[in-house]
Amino acid sequence: MTKFVKVCNVEDLPPGSGKLVMGLYDKPIALFNVDGNFYATNAICPHMGGHLQSGTLRGKVIYCPWHQWSFCVDTGESDHQGGHRISTYQLQIQNGEVMVGWLS
Ligand code: FES
Repeated sequence: MTKFVKVCNVEDLPPGSGKLVMGLYDKPIALFNVDGNFYATNAICPHMGGHLQSGTLRGKVIYCPWHQWSFCVDTGESDHQGGHRISTYQLQIQNGEVMVGWLS
């Protein structure tokens, strides 16, 4: 059975924004709210370590603040062929609390 850890409350993350949280085993997770739907990805950009939660979110695509590499926060896929993928994490909302699990 997958373990989950509470990372914040729903109201802590407005739509269109990202937030750094600590997941299971103190894994840095970038949490995003896209129109009320929450997504959890690796917080560290695979290019040179930019902090993805601080990037620009356009729909489900996050643009790294350092050099603009971009990734889908739902699938983790890069939006260009041959690009790197980022990890995505299981996520649940329970009683207004955002819970993150392990890799999805
Ligand atoms: S560190 Fe993210 S694009 Fe360069």
